[in-house]
Amino acid sequence: MQRQPLVIANWKMNGDRKLVTTMAEALREHAADYPAVQVVVCPPAVLLEAWQQAVFYDQIYLGAQDVNEHSHGAHTGEHSCSLLAEAGASFVLLGHSERRQWYGDSEPRIAAKVSQVLAQDNMTAVLCVGESAEQRQQQQTFAVVAAQLAAALGQVARCEQLVIAYEPIWAIGTGATASPEQAQEVHAMIRQWLTEKFGSAGREVRILYGGSVKADNAAALFAQTDIDGGLIGGASLAADQFVAICTAAQTRSS
Ligand code: 13P
Repeated sequence: MQRQPLVIANWKMNGDRKLVTTMAEALREHAADYPAVQVVVCPPAVLLEAWQQAVFYDQIYLGAQDVNEHSHGAHTGEHSCSLLAEAGASFVLLGHSERRQWYGDSEPRIAAKVSQVLAQDNMTAVLCVGESAEQRQQQQTFAVVAAQLAAALGQVARCEQLVIAYEPIWAIGTGATASPEQAQEVHAMIRQWLTEKFGSAGREVRILYGGSVKADNAAALFAQTDIDGGLIGGASLAADQFVAICTAAQTRSS
């Protein structure tokens, strides 16, 4: 089975209602350019409802940027998986490096979040992994990524609701994209890890690349065997850039 190309916008703590309208219009206008591509937008959670209204008739999926590891209760400021589902999200980013570095997403917390998401019907976990510049220099990339996968997925038995995003920390928001070959090498290692863990089902898991993906480098990245699409930060805030990236992903299906 061919893996459906996937492009996910991670707005991080950016965007507003005006951008929801502009972006939704642009995606509607150009949808025919990338019919085979699954497009997901992860806005700040308070904009999910505005997105849901804006794309009610469109084939655009919504996602959250994080979730709490508990199902409900006294967790001021947090969102449960079921609340996010109710707000329209069917994807959740987990273990983004910004959350690992600055917001206390330890390996056990990420594993607990993964199990919350996998327990929710119609919800897909997008697990983010990736090494720092220093770890790459010390040739620890494979070891770091494998350890992140093992910590988050050790207790997971099935992979149908799973997407992996390889986001080298040194490439995030820096303009320094991994070369297509550098990215493919890590994606191939992730693919092997997934097939060892999940058997042939691991071959169906989509693996996205994230880190300074732009309109002008997306096609070369998406041409690689194991790069099934992208997780897009900065360029997902500009309609022309994001539409061009979605269009670049369409070539994977031909
Ligand atoms: P940039 O595309 O801005 O480098 O961000 C990547 C990212 O962190 C997406 O989650």
